[in-house]
Amino acid sequence: MAILDGKVAVVTGAGRGIGRAVAKAMAAHGAAVVVNDLGVTVDGKKEPSTPANEVAAEIKTSGGTAVADGSDIATVVGGQSVVDHAIREFGQLDILVNVAGILRDRMIFNMSEEEWDEVIRVHLKGHYCTIRPASAHMRERKAGRIINFSSGAALGAPGQPNYAAAKAGILGLTYSSAVALAKYNITVNAIMPGASTRMTDSIPETRAPGGSFRPSDQAANSILDPANVAPVVVFLASDEAQYVNGQAIGAMGYRVTRYSHIVPERVLMGDGPWTVEKLAKSFKAALGTDMKPPRML
Ligand SMILES: NC(=O)c1ccc[n+]([C@@H]2O[C@H](COP(=O)([O-])OP(=O)(O)OC[C@H]3O[C@@H](n4cnc5c(N)ncnc54)[C@H](O)[C@@H]3O)[C@@H](O)[C@H]2O)c1
Repeated sequence: MAILDGKVAVVTGAGRGIGRAVAKAMAAHGAAVVVNDLGVTVDGKKEPSTPANEVAAEIKTSGGTAVADGSDIATVVGGQSVVDHAIREFGQLDILVNVAGILRDRMIFNMSEEEWDEVIRVHLKGHYCTIRPASAHMRERKAGRIINFSSGAALGAPGQPNYAAAKAGILGLTYSSAVALAKYNITVNAIMPGASTRMTDSIPETRAPGGSFRPSDQAANSILDPANVAPVVVFLASDEAQYVNGQAIGAMGYRVTRYSHIVPERVLMGDGPWTVEKLAKSFKAALGTDMKPPRML
């Protein structure tokens, strides 16, 4: 018996890169998969390709169960339609994996409103658009797994202020949903992935974290093959992972990481309202001077 036998999964952005690897692994482990992809360029422009159809066909050729879905998950209508598609086709939805994403990199001082809005819309609103209907269905069934895609970029990627903000927002959404949905037997976790894909192809070599990204057309069987992210996602989607909730889990190459949560580190307690002068005097001694900016790990 395979670990996801009898489960139904939606994987967004599953036409390429990490989403494709996750969808294929889910199907290989027994799940029926809705392979969602809108078919856009890295910067989110619609292109004539239909990658969801190709991946669904690949899964079926290997003996798995899949259906292609071309919804735009960054719209409320699209999020609802991909969830409805799973229920219509397979009768239920057990697993939602939110992988779809785009990039519009620019330094903050040059970033246009459109670049800001589009990245926040596809990543952060995109997660809302699918989690909202999926969680309503899972709540009724008192079971579910939601796996979101954040990024190490949330920890301060300098040329990606829109993307870093969206990915940090996805962590907040993950934690809030994890706390809210635990009583319905639904877990919500976030992945901080790393894999050679067309998305990393677009990052200048000098900026790539870890430095070992290859061109995506040479990723197969390398350490940063997107396929190496998939086992972590399949595990989190399984019944075995019931005890994992509200976590950010790194999956890059052969390394699986558990990230800490942000917790108060040092506290300066006043005995009444602070004056700026008093605060300036006490701040250094109580809260320290050894403050470092966040670091992408
Ligand atoms: N590759 C990495 O090292 C890395 C690192 C950190 C985070 N991530 C995150 O992992 C996820 C997958 O990235 P990837 O590298 O595989 O990228 P990718 O560009 O290869 O794949 C993303 C897919 O999402 C689809 N998509 C985009 N907008 C969509 C929409 N509105 N509706 C439906 N589909 C849409 C695209 O068509 C594309 O097929 C993204 O969320 C990305 O931000 C990737």
